[in-house]
Amino acid sequence: MTGTDRRHPPRTPLRAAPGMLRDLLTDRLAMMSTAVERHGDAVRMAAGPKTLYLFNHPDHAKHVLAENWDNYRKGIGQSHARRALGDGLLTSEGERWRAQRRTIRPVFQQRRISGRADAVAKEAVALADRLRARAGRGPVDMVEETTALTLGVLGRTLLDTDLHAFDTIGSAFAAVQDQAMLDMITMNALPVWLPTRTQTRFRGARAELARIVDRLVEGRTAADDADDALSRVLADASVEPDPRVRSQRVRDELVTLLLAGHETTASTLSWALYLVDRNPGTAERLRDEARSVLGDRAPTHEDLPKLTYTSMVVQETMRLYPAVWVLPRVALDDDEVGGYHVPAGSDVLICPYTLHRRPDAWPDPDRFDPERFAPGRRDERHRYSYIPFGAGPRVCVGSNLGMLEAVFVLAVIARDLRLTLPRGRRVVPEAMLSLRVRGGLPMNVHTL
Ligand code: HEM
Repeated sequence: MTGTDRRHPPRTPLRAAPGMLRDLLTDRLAMMSTAVERHGDAVRMAAGPKTLYLFNHPDHAKHVLAENWDNYRKGIGQSHARRALGDGLLTSEGERWRAQRRTIRPVFQQRRISGRADAVAKEAVALADRLRARAGRGPVDMVEETTALTLGVLGRTLLDTDLHAFDTIGSAFAAVQDQAMLDMITMNALPVWLPTRTQTRFRGARAELARIVDRLVEGRTAADDADDALSRVLADASVEPDPRVRSQRVRDELVTLLLAGHETTASTLSWALYLVDRNPGTAERLRDEARSVLGDRAPTHEDLPKLTYTSMVVQETMRLYPAVWVLPRVALDDDEVGGYHVPAGSDVLICPYTLHRRPDAWPDPDRFDPERFAPGRRDERHRYSYIPFGAGPRVCVGSNLGMLEAVFVLAVIARDLRLTLPRGRRVVPEAMLSLRVRGGLPMNVHTL
């Protein structure tokens, strides 16, 4: 095809640019949704100095993430995430990424995760106990609670450590993410040496995370026979002759795993609790299922396939509020996506948030309806119309653990408690590095 007869996606009009820049800064979900509503499956958006190619057809997602995945590296946000996370599994590329994925993948295989189910159940029950103790005593922030829970789970499953002992870890991650997000949406317009409040917090938080990882590593050596993520990362890094590079590698890997693994699952759980409160019929069905499958004991791995409805609720939650709401890529070489030309170097976005609300795959897409995920209904839609864990070789490595956690926690809470939003409280999504509930999720706790 020659340069003149190539097809290009429609471009958002120039007069829309100021509005889009405002949306980029304040309402990124509206920016994506409006673009696909007005222009369809493929659109070129002017966002500040950049042109973004947004593709919103499941075939496009399949092409970019799976079929031609090695023509793409991770995109916008990458350099910012790197400044926050270094070169861990989420941000690395090429041979380095391949080697890291080989090291980490075995830790998350279904068989290993099933061996950790008791530890996850313990955290879920401890959360329900903490909440019960707060019943009738004013709202509890469920974003904070689920964040503490998911960090606790990662400590027990990946590091054989009680992360609750590190009480600064949650706020350190929050500070790192706030700065990474600010860098990303201002496209690095603010120099990093500016002593702004978020920059100073960011530096302090990075140093704190490094200190925490160093303490976790103390007392562990590559010769340890434990086979958790920490020992595998240590063994891998031990071939590095320079001790400073070696410790940096270990820090990057562990900080990445902790960040990627806690915020996503905590956001998913927060959204699930919100949706359950809005849909009383769902709360009742969840309770019936949890009571009949679990009785009054803690969940075990064998219960997982029986908690069918709970798992449907988690899946529908991730459809409406996918924690990773956008998957940014950069094209290495010229490509053609759905018949549209994509020049080398272009920023390409696949957006699970808009993809998951396509009316052709999801009738009445804004309605919460767990029945969409009833057993046997998967074949009704395009496989790539639902990608909460991404797709292709860079698909989420921790999806088994994330699902297990979300299902166990939801089941234990629904069985014993009812969580309600204070009257008049508005819940608004905020598309940061993950799709969060803006300003937290205060909920009143009632015992059943
Ligand atoms: C409900 C929970 C979770 C959701 C929705 C989620 C979602 C995702 C998505 C969409 C990606 C792909 C990103 C991309 O292609 O650009 C991803 C990658 C990743 N996730 Fe998760 N995730 C979850 C839980 C976890 C957990 C528990 C861990 C454990 C530490 C984890 C670790 C990772 C890592 C390391 C990557 C990068 C993989 C690679 O690039 O090879 N995630 N996740």
